[in-house]
Amino acid sequence: MALQAAALLPSTFSFSKEGKVGASLKDSSLFGKSLSDQIKSDISSSSLKIKRAVRAEAVITATPAVNRATAEGKKTLRKGTVVITGASSGLGLATAKALAETGKWHVIMACRDFLKAERAAKSVGMTKENYTIMHLDLGSLDSVRQFVDTFRRSGRPLDVLVCNAAVYLPTAKEPTFTAEGFELSVGVNHLGHFLLARSLLDDMNQSDYPSKRLIIVGSITGNTNTLAGNVPPKASLGDLRGLAGGLNGLNTASMIDGGDFDGAKAYKDSKVCNMLTMQEFHRRYHEDTGITFASLYPGCIATTGLFREHIPLFRFLFPPFQKYVTKGFVSEEEAGKRLAQVVSDPSLTKSGVYWSWNKDSASFENQLSQEASDVEKARKVWEISEKLVGLA
Ligand SMILES: NC(=O)c1ccc[n+]([C@@H]2O[C@H](COP(=O)([O-])OP(=O)(O)OC[C@H]3O[C@@H](n4cnc5c(N)ncnc54)[C@H](OP(=O)(O)O)[C@@H]3O)[C@@H](O)[C@H]2O)c1
Repeated sequence: MALQAAALLPSTFSFSKEGKVGASLKDSSLFGKSLSDQIKSDISSSSLKIKRAVRAEAVITATPAVNRATAEGKKTLRKGTVVITGASSGLGLATAKALAETGKWHVIMACRDFLKAERAAKSVGMTKENYTIMHLDLGSLDSVRQFVDTFRRSGRPLDVLVCNAAVYLPTAKEPTFTAEGFELSVGVNHLGHFLLARSLLDDMNQSDYPSKRLIIVGSITGNTNTLAGNVPPKASLGDLRGLAGGLNGLNTASMIDGGDFDGAKAYKDSKVCNMLTMQEFHRRYHEDTGITFASLYPGCIATTGLFREHIPLFRFLFPPFQKYVTKGFVSEEEAGKRLAQVVSDPSLTKSGVYWSWNKDSASFENQLSQEASDVEKARKVWEISEKLVGLA
């Protein structure tokens, strides 16, 4: 990815450490006259505006995923609903745009800054009927629970969940913490998403969409079987003693392996947790639910906000370095198309896969490092994470 490329910069620039409602009244005929009448009467009353939205959404929910054959004999698929965390910038926004403009997806932009998300959606030309913004701050487990509740009350089905949001704090000298006191990178990137994905699994299971998917964005930087993944500080979860202690930096370390705080390593460790979690989901739930679990490395998207905390010189040099030296640069638009493929491409339904793309932008199943595919470690990360987020 990009971070690994930081490793490939000349040593003078070494940065390893420091530095809606789409339903028409006609649709309500599915439920017979009484609901239709009810909705009509609600519409006539402006005070019941919200109620109307919820009921109309309920119509969408109850619409079978594959509708009856049309006059031409073709079967039609209802619009899918995809939740994307961190859709207010970078990869998440580009993916939201790519999916929304197909007209086949309604994107729930799960973001912590409503206004930023609204402006972002407008800036890329997304049209109102194709997205809804819902508040989610992954740095607070209460906010995650609230999001789940809000989503359920919307009445929409959940067909695909994309855990994409992340923070990267390579220049931080001291750890910062989530509302519950977890080191921020692992708290947001892993634990917040862990609770979200676990909480929404049942919702996804109830959807009748033909291809349901849970995608957790990974990274090459967490994989020590790559050049990029070997750039110090390398990802390493050790014996998980810091995670088991709650990463609070008080009576336990803020790092998963129990070591001293290092913001770049904390990010890479969190990405290992993301990739382990996806595989553990696959082992525990794929056979029973049919849900496809996947992770990916979208390529080095050197221009995104992920590098906002880096020193200005890095941010200036990183994109051209990736474009002209490593040639690993991928535009936000291209990366968004890649993630959109993992969401909706009928050929990418295999579960338990970590997808990557070659130079011709063709997808392939990539190999994870030994640690990022360690079955026993995945089980332990899962069990400790369950306790930390209050699920066990
Ligand atoms: N850039 C790369 O080269 C690269 C390579 C490999 C993998 N990735 C992965 O791609 C994903 C997206 O990163 P990006 O490069 O697109 O970076 P980005 O532009 O910074 O996007 C990150 C998103 O996460 C959101 N976010 C951060 N903290 C949050 C919180 N507490 N609650 C909710 N949302 C939060 C941000 O919201 P705000 O807008 O409110 O800050 C933003 O929308 C990450 O998982 C990253 O690890 C990136």
